[in-house]
Amino acid sequence: MGIKLAHIRKNYQKSKLSDGDVIGDPFLLFENWYNEAVKNGESEPNAMVLSTVNGNKPSARIVLLKELSEGSFLFFTNYNSRKGNELKLNPFVALTLFWPGLERQVRIEGEVGKLRSDVSENYFNSRPEESRISAIISPQSQVIPSKKFLEDKFTGFISANQPIQRPEHWGGYRCIPESIEFWQGGEHRLHDRIRFTKEIENWKIERLAP
Ligand SMILES: Cc1cc2nc3c(=O)[nH]c(=O)nc-3n(C[C@H](O)[C@H](O)[C@H](O)COP(=O)(O)O)c2cc1C
Repeated sequence: MGIKLAHIRKNYQKSKLSDGDVIGDPFLLFENWYNEAVKNGESEPNAMVLSTVNGNKPSARIVLLKELSEGSFLFFTNYNSRKGNELKLNPFVALTLFWPGLERQVRIEGEVGKLRSDVSENYFNSRPEESRISAIISPQSQVIPSKKFLEDKFTGFISANQPIQRPEHWGGYRCIPESIEFWQGGEHRLHDRIRFTKEIENWKIERLAP
């Protein structure tokens, strides 16, 4: 029983992140990498691990990056979920994206704040009707008695002909990064790691050992 994975070894040789390729604006570099991930056909290129902290214990899950604008990364969720409750107590997060086809990882660390309700509203209303209903009826992260409980809530909502409005507890967060690290897999495990750290006026750029 079990799985032995020690023999699995991959050589990273797709690309390099040379000092000359590092542009001073990490958001522009992120945009370039994101566009390359899309072009490369990565599956779910906007999926990212969102790590939060509860007391001194971490928890992590995937959420979808929905926008990068004005220097912040946006995602949407239920404010009363486990992550939502953790963020109420500690707004510091880590976001991790992995684009295996390009052998790239991006690590973002920063602080989140809730989006203005009209911004959440706009995004909510852009979602397909079924997704909006699910967001309304699902008490995300709570223990429920059965799948049927959820399905009944879903069909009950539809047959009651209720308005499909964004509930107060559903919306977005913006993560304002304090640091962004770009990792490019390299030959012989000599990977490239470039970290941008926010300073008052600009970004400090450093190369880290792999
Ligand atoms: C590919 C993928 C995308 C997801 N996107 C989201 C998302 O954008 N927002 C969200 O709340 N949950 C999303 N989820 C579900 C979360 O991973 C998680 O199950 C849920 O948010 C509850 O997490 P929590 O109990 O830690 O709050 C996604 C899951 C996967 C696998």
